[in-house]
Amino acid sequence: MKYGIIGTGGVAHAIATKLIELGHEVMMGARSATNEKAVSRTKSNGERAFNGTFADAARFGERVFNCVQGIHSLEALHAAGKENLNGKLLIDLANPYIYKDGHIALDSRWSGTTSLGEETQNLLPDTKVVKTLNYLCNHLMVHPGQLPDAITGFYCGNDADAKAEAAALLKDFGWEDTLDLGDISMSRYTEMLGAFWPAALNATGNMEWGFRLVRKQ
Ligand SMILES: NC(=O)c1ccc[n+]([C@@H]2O[C@H](COP(=O)([O-])OP(=O)(O)OC[C@H]3O[C@@H](n4cnc5c(N)ncnc54)[C@H](OP(=O)(O)O)[C@@H]3O)[C@@H](O)[C@H]2O)c1
Repeated sequence: MKYGIIGTGGVAHAIATKLIELGHEVMMGARSATNEKAVSRTKSNGERAFNGTFADAARFGERVFNCVQGIHSLEALHAAGKENLNGKLLIDLANPYIYKDGHIALDSRWSGTTSLGEETQNLLPDTKVVKTLNYLCNHLMVHPGQLPDAITGFYCGNDADAKAEAAALLKDFGWEDTLDLGDISMSRYTEMLGAFWPAALNATGNMEWGFRLVRKQ
């Protein structure tokens, strides 16, 4: 399958590399088609990897990942073009965080009575937005089995078929335990959960940890 990735950071690279490993074609998109990071990451991923602008990547992908800095996410998706995303599954990994004095705050434009996941769905009403994996380190997004215990892959969104596709992809990424949290408004909670990382990093000295929801079946 063809995947578009909006973004060129560590998350975009981890997802692109895993998708290539799984046999897919991937186009990484940036603000500029000559973005140096995208060019070098694409080169390292071989002949099924491509790069271009945000719009090129959105157009290329049958499914699309949003891996952009959260506070710029909506402008990046606007640049990617609604027409290039209509009808597609958009897997949103972004967080609307502001970093200050060693702490995280959720940007008030995308928190409280809304979330970045919801506002992404509002911006793109004809796109099927599924929020997932935004609450743990990028390496573990695609290698969850490297921890000693199974951790939980939370996801949420409004479209049942899109969520089933996202859950199947999580299985391909190695997730044994996944949990449908409900509609896209559940992003409010996974976006708050993602803000836990400075505390856990401070306590453990590393990013090699995840969350498991222990529950009665
Ligand atoms: N790092 C992690 O382990 C991790 C874990 C969970 C969730 N997340 C979330 O995943 C997302 C990506 O994180 P990251 O660390 O990989 O990368 P990042 O540094 O947060 O974001 C990089 C991307 O943001 C784009 N960007 C920056 N400023 C922009 C602007 N003014 N307008 C449009 N686009 C802009 C960049 O575009 P160009 O390519 O054009 O430079 C680049 O593609 C974030 O929302 C983050 O909160 C990260």
